[in-house]
Amino acid sequence: MSNYEQRINLIDLNDYPVSWWNQLLALAHEIRENPEAYAKVCDGKIMGTLFYEPSTRTQMSFQTAMLRLGGTIIGFDNPATSSVAKGENIKDTTKIVSGYADIMVMRHPTEGSVKAAALTADCPVVNAGDGGHLHPTQTLTDLFTLKEEKGSLEGLTIGFCGDLKNGRTVHSLIKAMTCYKGSKFVLISTPDLALPAYIKDILAAGGFEYSEVSSLDEAIGGLDVLYMTRIQQERFASHEEYLKQKGNYILDKDKMSRAKESMIVLHPLPRVDEIAIEVDDDPRAMYFKQAKYGMYIRMALILTILRGNGTPAPLIRGREHKHVECSNPGCITHRETYLPHYFAGSGDILTCEYCDNRTLI
Ligand code: NCD
Repeated sequence: MSNYEQRINLIDLNDYPVSWWNQLLALAHEIRENPEAYAKVCDGKIMGTLFYEPSTRTQMSFQTAMLRLGGTIIGFDNPATSSVAKGENIKDTTKIVSGYADIMVMRHPTEGSVKAAALTADCPVVNAGDGGHLHPTQTLTDLFTLKEEKGSLEGLTIGFCGDLKNGRTVHSLIKAMTCYKGSKFVLISTPDLALPAYIKDILAAGGFEYSEVSSLDEAIGGLDVLYMTRIQQERFASHEEYLKQKGNYILDKDKMSRAKESMIVLHPLPRVDEIAIEVDDDPRAMYFKQAKYGMYIRMALILTILRGNGTPAPLIRGREHKHVECSNPGCITHRETYLPHYFAGSGDILTCEYCDNRTLI
């Protein structure tokens, strides 16, 4: 293990206090207002971007962010053209890149993989999406969009629609919104794609008002924000299973006519068919602007991490349980078997430190 405790790794936004998020939002606002003042602040710094999974916005907004701060970038967006194709494990690849770069941004299809990398890396690591688990920088993008467009992050009723089971952006944003007063949640999905139990538990434990409904038509009128998501085809066991869910929710002009004038529509993108193109011209459609906000908040994040502004969050809060296996088959510990089995909690239920899955022992 490396001395990761001394670095600001961003694996899960909820590892940091809301005051730190708010500082990032304020800095992003300042950068957006006056980008010239920040054009050279990362001169001489290098960011590594390791994308083991497809990405357009996250990868390019991170890269543009670093270039606009005056830094440079290295990395890959196709593991098939790196030594990963020769069978190199995550530890070795990320250890090497983290020795070349000052900050490393990583996306990987396996849950808990980015935390695994951070444990042995030699520079700060940012989670750009780990399987169906979390996507903290999309959440920062979403929070920044809400702050800039709605003026406040408090008292918002947010409808989440689509694939709430596999959508990591949904999981991260719901967890984040539980830290703002007066948030209400309307969960719009088919029963098969409902929100995972561990996130519902967080809502229940915090005493948050939430409802689970299947009709977007019925829910839309009460929302301040509608967060649309695509059905995550790549996370389904079979194409048939995916086809059963595809096309169940489509936001169109007709549905928008039942929404408040002040409601805004967010979507992390890419869109498949869940928002009709005709909605793009509606002033409430905020998703393209949201993608641009993502660049400013990532500029703020890179700068904050490189300056070391903040108190590093511990990556491991529990301890190693050598003989316990995480019961989530999608957890990184089953793929990279050298990883110590870290769990938090005690008694019969242990929480995997990599993927947050609860394992009954
Ligand atoms: C999201 C992701 O990768 O989770 N995209 C993004 O980062 N903007 C959403 C998605 O792929 O559906």
